[in-house]
Order: sequence, then C-alpha cells, then structure tokens
Amino acid sequence: MKRGSFITFEGGEGMGKSTQIRLLAQTLEERGIDVVVTREPGGTPGGEAIRELLLQPPGEGWTIEAEALLFAAARADHVARLIVPALESGRWVLCDRFVDSSRAYQGIAGEMTDDAIKTLHGIGSGGLMPDLTLVLDASDAEVTARLARRDGGVSDAIGGRTAAFHASVNAAFQQIAASDPDRVRLIDGTGSIEEVRARVADSVANLLASRS
Ligand code: TYD
Repeated sequence: MKRGSFITFEGGEGMGKSTQIRLLAQTLEERGIDVVVTREPGGTPGGEAIRELLLQPPGEGWTIEAEALLFAAARADHVARLIVPALESGRWVLCDRFVDSSRAYQGIAGEMTDDAIKTLHGIGSGGLMPDLTLVLDASDAEVTARLARRDGGVSDAIGGRTAAFHASVNAAFQQIAASDPDRVRLIDGTGSIEEVRARVADSVANLLASRS
C-alpha cells in the first residue's frame, strides 16, 4: 500500500482556506484519490474538545506557553488517531492548518522560539511534517478587511487579537515559506475563488505527477 500524501493549508485569518481545501478535495477525488479533509485545532473528538478550550478560553485566558502546549496536545491526538492511520491506508490528507500555524502564531508572533515549538511537535507528533504546505497570502490590509467581514466584530480568542499581531502572523508565514521552499509554497490568495483554485492546482501538480 502506497502511503498517501499529506497537504496542509496555512495563512492568516479569513483567507478562504476551507473553500480552497474543499475544491482541491473535489479535484483529487475526480482523479480517483481517496481524500480526508480535516482541520486544526480539531479533527478528532479530543482535538475538537481542546479547540473549544483554545478559542473560548475559561477565566483570563491561556499564557502563550499553555496555548502552545494545548495546540500541541490537540495535534498529537489528531496525528495519532486520524492523520497517520489515513496516510498509512493510502488516503491523502488535506488539513486546514498544522504545525506551521503554531510556528507563526505562538512562535514568531507569540514570541516563543521556533525550537520550542518544534520540540513540542517532536514530543507530541513525532515531528511529522507535511509533504506540501500551501500558504494563502495577502497584504496586511486585505487580511484585516477579511477578518472584519468574517467576524462582524465578534471573534474568538485568537482571531480577535490586534492588527499588529495578525500582521506579524502574516510576515511569519512569508518567513516560513522563504525558509523551506521545497515544502512550502506561498500562493497569492487574492482574486476570485476560481483564480486562487487555479494557483492551488498548479502548486499540487508536481506532487500529483510524482505520485502517479
Ligand atoms: P479557525 O476559526 O479555524 O481560524 P481560520 O478559519 O482562520 O483558520 O481558528 C483557528 C485559530 O487558531 C486561528 O486563529 C489560528 C489559531 N491557531 C494557532 O494559533 N496555532 C495553531 O497551531 C493552530 C492550528 C491554529
């Protein structure tokens, strides 16, 4: 049984990742590939329970370290119970956010070190990395506008952070893409859904060719 491919989608808030994941899943299924679509934090009952704790935190909220540990715990459950078994059974896994989100939000923007985030990922998830990561990119102004449209003033504990925090997240993803060009592709997330879909399809073409 050939192991499936693991593709993650990353980017700032409100970039239309879930729409693009759905469209890519359709494209892959049309080619006869068995696809699992999932998200972080979440994807398993344990991961979804931790998601609630993260996005609607009790009391005064988590310290950045506690937050990073909770994301790593949610990921550990998700990797062990859903992602690895799916890949091993030959299915492709498309995941809305993964460890690069921890590197961007808790690491670079949250001022934890990249080494700390990677250590947690090593302990929790055996350091599993995606075969391909697509970062949907847009200007800070575009991200702020999308966030306001999406949340209409009501946002969760992380989405509701300052514009400066989100600008730092945006820059962090660009930095992660530049530091690992073989795995991470920066995709222009602006324009119509169809335009972005075509850019996503282009970025996946090599992986598809190498797997068939
Ligand atoms: P979600 O509503 O799924 O955001 P989006 O639709 O923008 O993907 O909420 C997930 C939030 O959690 C989002 O603000 C990003 C944040 N996050 C982290 O801070 N670290 C992480 O490791 C992950 C996976 C997500």
